[in-house]
Amino acid sequence: MVKKIFLSALAASLAFVAPASGVEQRVDSVLSMMSLREKIGQLNQLNTRGDKQECLDIVAAGEVGSIINENHPDVVRRLQKTAVEKSRLGIPLIFGRDVIHGYHTIFPIPLGQAATWNPELVGRGARIAAVEATHDGIRWTFSPMVDVSRDARWGRIAESAGEDPLLNEVMGLALVRGYQGSALSSPTSMAACAKHFCGYGAAEGGRDYNTTWIPEPLLRDVYLKPFKALAKAGVATFMTSFNDINGTPSTGNPFLLRKVLRDEWGFDGVVVSDWDAITEMIAHRVCADKDQAAAMAVNAGTDIDMEGDAYLRCLPELVESGKVDIAVIDNAVRNVLRLKFRLGLFDNPYIGLDSEDKSYAPAHLEAARKMVGESAVLIKNDGILPLAPSVRRIAVVGPMADAAHDQCGTWCLDLEKSHSVTPLAALRERFGRDAVVYAPGLAYSRDRSTAGFKAAIEAARKADVVLFFAGEEAVLSGEAHCLADVVLQGRQSQLLEELALTGTPVVTVLMAGRPLAIRDEVGNSNAVIYSFHPGTMAGPGLVDVITGDVNPSGHLPVTLPLMAGQMPLYYAQKSTGRPAQEIVHIDDIELEAVQSSTGCTSYYLDAGKAPYLPFGYGLSYTTFGYGPVELSSTEIPADGKLIAACTVTNTGSRTGATVAQLYVSDCVASLTRPVKELKAFRKIELAPGESRRLEFELSVSDLGFHQADGSYIVEPGQMNLWIAPDSSTSAPAAAFTITGNRP
Ligand code: NOJ
Repeated sequence: MVKKIFLSALAASLAFVAPASGVEQRVDSVLSMMSLREKIGQLNQLNTRGDKQECLDIVAAGEVGSIINENHPDVVRRLQKTAVEKSRLGIPLIFGRDVIHGYHTIFPIPLGQAATWNPELVGRGARIAAVEATHDGIRWTFSPMVDVSRDARWGRIAESAGEDPLLNEVMGLALVRGYQGSALSSPTSMAACAKHFCGYGAAEGGRDYNTTWIPEPLLRDVYLKPFKALAKAGVATFMTSFNDINGTPSTGNPFLLRKVLRDEWGFDGVVVSDWDAITEMIAHRVCADKDQAAAMAVNAGTDIDMEGDAYLRCLPELVESGKVDIAVIDNAVRNVLRLKFRLGLFDNPYIGLDSEDKSYAPAHLEAARKMVGESAVLIKNDGILPLAPSVRRIAVVGPMADAAHDQCGTWCLDLEKSHSVTPLAALRERFGRDAVVYAPGLAYSRDRSTAGFKAAIEAARKADVVLFFAGEEAVLSGEAHCLADVVLQGRQSQLLEELALTGTPVVTVLMAGRPLAIRDEVGNSNAVIYSFHPGTMAGPGLVDVITGDVNPSGHLPVTLPLMAGQMPLYYAQKSTGRPAQEIVHIDDIELEAVQSSTGCTSYYLDAGKAPYLPFGYGLSYTTFGYGPVELSSTEIPADGKLIAACTVTNTGSRTGATVAQLYVSDCVASLTRPVKELKAFRKIELAPGESRRLEFELSVSDLGFHQADGSYIVEPGQMNLWIAPDSSTSAPAAAFTITGNRP
């Protein structure tokens, strides 16, 4: 029987069991006092309705456990006060929000963060986001997204670390460390959320929310890999994905949520549905109504219903009628209470709210600027960059030169664009107003009017150099913003063509949310910097690179395509039975040529086989030499360790950083394997002429793969290994053999 409480509800909640007791004891103590309605309330997440009486009443009734999207500190405080003082048990709320690449200080989009290949820097960005957001009461961010993304059409590629499972894993871990800090209960820590579980990035045709069909070896080797690492590292929460996977929506998928996540990985945190994803199982046509959807989701292991109303409405009756076991509800509630205890909310429900507002602190802006510089990928340079000191007159052209909003990219709920420093502003600051002639040519990326071309061309003619800032508006990528073609929109390419004809050297700087097909645009430029929407400090960070104050060291986290029809496109493809050779381009085929299947290989008549630029690619203002790979042994047992070493030398005349990438390839296996797989990487800075020997230690047990039944195997046989500055290396491989008998 529930004990009657006469104390204030908060005092009562603290009195359940003394704070010194273990979290599990405290969770059980609270749970033992809860009514069914209160339990279900904890599983209900509400979109904010502010602090209107209607909302305060729901909170006071204990019908809500967490609130999404409220970040006004006074409203947060009032709602929290209602929860702890007016609800019967005084259980505090959690306030969650999409803090995806910064809160007020906006860092590069996650794809740009991945282009730094610098997890330490990325973690620092997440820490800053947490410091800024917790001040407003946000203790739960719906980040990181670790969906492996191999299709540039998919708008959400912007939010990922790109196409590679290891890069997603490393960046995801860095973000979790940054958000969660050293202890979840610290006032500046937010619970992180590994999303979207799972396979969301594999949406058929690159169209958001679309179906996925992922066989178990691919699921486990590629899509689950970063999630597993985050679960093992203590990420506090998971979010289910909108898509169905092999016929079952993730939100109602017990294979993912119970077998893999709980039983195999031992996850004891919270699983939240994506927005209304429980009810959306009706649209998926696996449930006839909300009741079925609620039962399917909770039984599968979705703890919290995000703004869906299905749990609150349907679970009471489903439990009463025995269609959902109370033990299932109790377990879900335990997960939620455990998180609240871990966040320190029972001990101080207002934690964070009293902290100093550090938004836009100089150190935050400096970290953002550094990340912009490190995420910029130099993909072409005929020597025009860095700009020579003799450059006096600069024509600044293009729709992204002064786009305070669009330079920040997708998912900036808390963007205050007056804080953005655009490239135009930074160039004026650096070179003086008189040296910079601004003639945008186009007002925004989709602009089709050529009215501004004349002024832009005139400015270009009179300048020593043209800086052409092009790309995509923020809204062209991100959730639900997919494109069937991945080209520069509007008349940007035409403007660039005309700028090139002036004969003044053109440096193109792209700011985009995805990899774009830009071969012709690169051809029309003397140098190209690819920058995934860089955020608040886009201007200063990019000017650092243009002037050479920062030597570019970004490398592509995604393959750059020649055209959208190559999608999905990624370096770790499988070998086919007919690898491409003797590629004949469509223009070179004779008229009425006889077609047969003899001698044909795997490529496109118009695009060939290769992408435009490979995963991992990036230039610098210096050059690097990679020596041969040395192995600690050429015969290693499956439980052994291998050291692969290589000496890297800065062969140029400037200090610079390179990303040494270690790839392996399984020569013969019982299932077809990728042509190459990234297994480790390290970013190192070297002075001119400096050499450094790099050693990578690999556990051979990490070189296996999953089979159709989900089991993992490390097969004996030959592996090839490379250490190189990108995935396309054709340097001779170092070979070693995994010893043992083939099972
Ligand atoms: C839908 C998105 O898919 C998810 O990533 C986000 O966290 C939620 N909405 C909440 O805004």
